[in-house]
Amino acid sequence: MFDVQIDTTKLKNMETKLNCKFGNDGTFVEMALDLNEYQEKLPPISDVSFGIYSGDLEKIKQLVEKVDPKWCKYFTEKTTIFCGFINKEPVSFCIITTTADSILSDDNIKIGGVACVGTVPEYRKRGIGLKMVDMATIYLKSLRCDIAYIHYTHLEKWYKKLGYETVARFSFVQNPQKT
Ligand SMILES: CC(C)(COP(=O)(O)OP(=O)(O)OC[C@H]1O[C@@H](n2cnc3c(N)ncnc32)[C@H](O)[C@@H]1OP(=O)(O)O)[C@@H](O)C(=O)NCCC(=O)NCCS
Repeated sequence: MFDVQIDTTKLKNMETKLNCKFGNDGTFVEMALDLNEYQEKLPPISDVSFGIYSGDLEKIKQLVEKVDPKWCKYFTEKTTIFCGFINKEPVSFCIITTTADSILSDDNIKIGGVACVGTVPEYRKRGIGLKMVDMATIYLKSLRCDIAYIHYTHLEKWYKKLGYETVARFSFVQNPQKT
């Protein structure tokens, strides 16, 4: 594990906000990756390109609606949206931020985040989602972030394929809060 410091105040704030509890038996995780050493991990996928989405916001929100309607509120004119495209049409998406909501201490380091990761159902299981996260991670590196961060996921093994490491585990005290 690379050297990351957990900020206990941020951790407590997250517990309050999400009504969750950190502990080694948690089923959800917070993950991080050191961008200093990061190189593109996966081979290209023919006919799929990746990059920032600059098209119509309503169009991308229709795809988000298909994947998880609760995420639609996070997709606004100010959001940086990164996509996988086939024939110039988005088939997968995620949100990129250079000020990630994390439980890590961010003294003198810039923490970027990849969030709301989705592939529309008809294009799943072709490697598009993971390749998009690979390219989004490279994009965060190009923005001079030191760490890439994944907040609140159950896909630990999937992100580990790219080198993301678990920094903490948590469970919900009752039902997960709506995010
Ligand atoms: C999670 C999600 C983004 C994955 O998208 P995807 O495009 O299907 O992702 P990938 O194809 O890269 O990987 C999915 C699986 O397909 C498998 N796969 C990849 N390429 C494949 C191929 N060519 N043929 C068959 N299977 C393949 C991968 O091994 C992976 O299996 P695993 O889950 O056992 O690791 C998608 O399922 C989704 O939108 N889910 C709902 C939203 C969600 O839960 N997001 C995560 C929030 S943190």
